[in-house]
Amino acid sequence: VNDISKSLPLKNKKVLVTAGPTYEAIDPVRFIGNHSSGKMGYAIAEELANQGAQVTLISGPTALTVSNQGIKKIDVISAAEMLETCKQEFEQTDICIMSAAVADYTPQEVATQKIKKEATDFSIQLKKTEDILYQLGEAKKPHQLLIGFALETNDEEAFAIQKLKKKNLDFIVLNSLNDIGAGFKKDTNKITIIDKNLVKTTFELKTKTEVAKDICAKIIASL
Ligand code: CTP
Ligand code: CA
Repeated sequence: VNDISKSLPLKNKKVLVTAGPTYEAIDPVRFIGNHSSGKMGYAIAEELANQGAQVTLISGPTALTVSNQGIKKIDVISAAEMLETCKQEFEQTDICIMSAAVADYTPQEVATQKIKKEATDFSIQLKKTEDILYQLGEAKKPHQLLIGFALETNDEEAFAIQKLKKKNLDFIVLNSLNDIGAGFKKDTNKITIIDKNLVKTTFELKTKTEVAKDICAKIIASL
């Protein structure tokens, strides 16, 4: 019978993708966040689904929607919520791509009422969030592929290799904010992939859809 999905390379693979920023509440109206649009992660989720994978997308707050109806989307807000959701999903996952821009710090306390401004300056105590990718790297079984991102402004490759090793990744996708056309909110990106054998592949500036195809091809080659 003419079922094209039978020949797709990621058929029967369960994939977990995270995307977007996390928002860390300060009080009922304010939060600490970052400039991540979620575009890269959503493009990856779409491409993997197009290659036949069963995709779960854990998304921080973004303005984006998924077009492939097969993608199961779970919305989260904070780093703590993203961690809990990832932990629930990871065991039954074959391939995990952590593209979310998770907050590194969160307010020590969340005010239950709106904080009123005073005549003086104001500061907030922050505590570290859990490193989700590091925890998944510790839990990773040999059959699972784990892929992370690194966003750097300087000493990019050295920092990316440190993260690759520390977080027990199969490969890391390096984004440099120094590359014109790459990074937050843009529709294009320029990446370097470094794998666990330290084989490095540098790609041209491309649309995020095309970048997602390159990442997906690397995943298929790594299986
Ligand atoms: N990450 C994570 N949990 C965090 C912080 C980061 O899972 N609390 C993941 C990101 O999703 C990304 C990778 O770790 O896949 C690297 O994120 P990045 O911010 O580049 O590195 P950090 O390890 O947070 O270090 P730093 O921000 O100091 O460079
Ligand atoms: Ca970080």
